[in-house]
Amino acid sequence: MNIMILNGSPKKKSSTSGFLGKVMGSCLINHDVNYFSLRIKNEYPKILQSLKYVDALILAVPLYVDGIPSHVLEFLHQAEIFCKENKCNFSPYVISNNGFIEGVHNKVHLKMYECWCRRTRIIWGGGIGVGGEILRVLSIYFSVAFAVHIIINLVKYILGTLPVFDDWIPLIYDIAVYLFFNIGVIYCIIRLSASVRKLGKTKNRYTRVTVSSFLFVHMADIFMVLTVLFNGKNIFFLLKKDKYIPKK
Ligand SMILES: Cc1cc2nc3c(=O)[nH]c(=O)nc-3n(C[C@H](O)[C@H](O)[C@H](O)COP(=O)(O)O)c2cc1C
Repeated sequence: MNIMILNGSPKKKSSTSGFLGKVMGSCLINHDVNYFSLRIKNEYPKILQSLKYVDALILAVPLYVDGIPSHVLEFLHQAEIFCKENKCNFSPYVISNNGFIEGVHNKVHLKMYECWCRRTRIIWGGGIGVGGEILRVLSIYFSVAFAVHIIINLVKYILGTLPVFDDWIPLIYDIAVYLFFNIGVIYCIIRLSASVRKLGKTKNRYTRVTVSSFLFVHMADIFMVLTVLFNGKNIFFLLKKDKYIPKK
């Protein structure tokens, strides 16, 4: 089966949509999965051409102002015309993710893609709404933690101490915590991938990172501060003045 996974995030790297698309792709490894991005508009014609040969289309996309990001909307306009003209026949699925913790915020967003399907005369397959962007941050943190545990045991081995079971307990603990945080997302993605494999229809599902909302707010605050610091390279960018001076 030919499956296209489209990343609808405008981010160049480290997008949650890209991450969720990859998780979905790893559940479909026995199929021919191809990844594309909607970041560059010049690539839309190439993506549209590929749609002719696709059995299932999975769009992983962020929620922007409770709706479809404008560049994705532009793509959908073009895709509607293209699909009608070329009688495309694929099953579309959407993985929508948002910043607020509740996945149900994506409900109307998913409905919009369902409406697009009706207009394009394509049968809507179903979707999932994932709340709490922190998921991606957890993945970065845990991959570093996993690597550190493995390196520590490797160094021990090189120095002549054979790691015993107890040495692996911190790694097992971190994997268990990571799976706990992601359990809802993993479940929804596995259920959606089962529908994709059958090219069938499924009900929309909403999930979120397994953290209480009270804790999430503080984790999100720390994440935002770190993002600003690292994206701005140093703290002085927070206080940068604009060079433009308005004329009197
Ligand atoms: C312009 C803009 C609008 C957004 N609007 C919403 C929103 O209405 N509700 C929400 O929960 N998150 C909103 N967000 C947060 C994104 O949905 C969130 O950061 C998402 O995880 C980004 O996904 P990506 O990394 O795949 O781009 C918005 C972000 C941006 C940049």
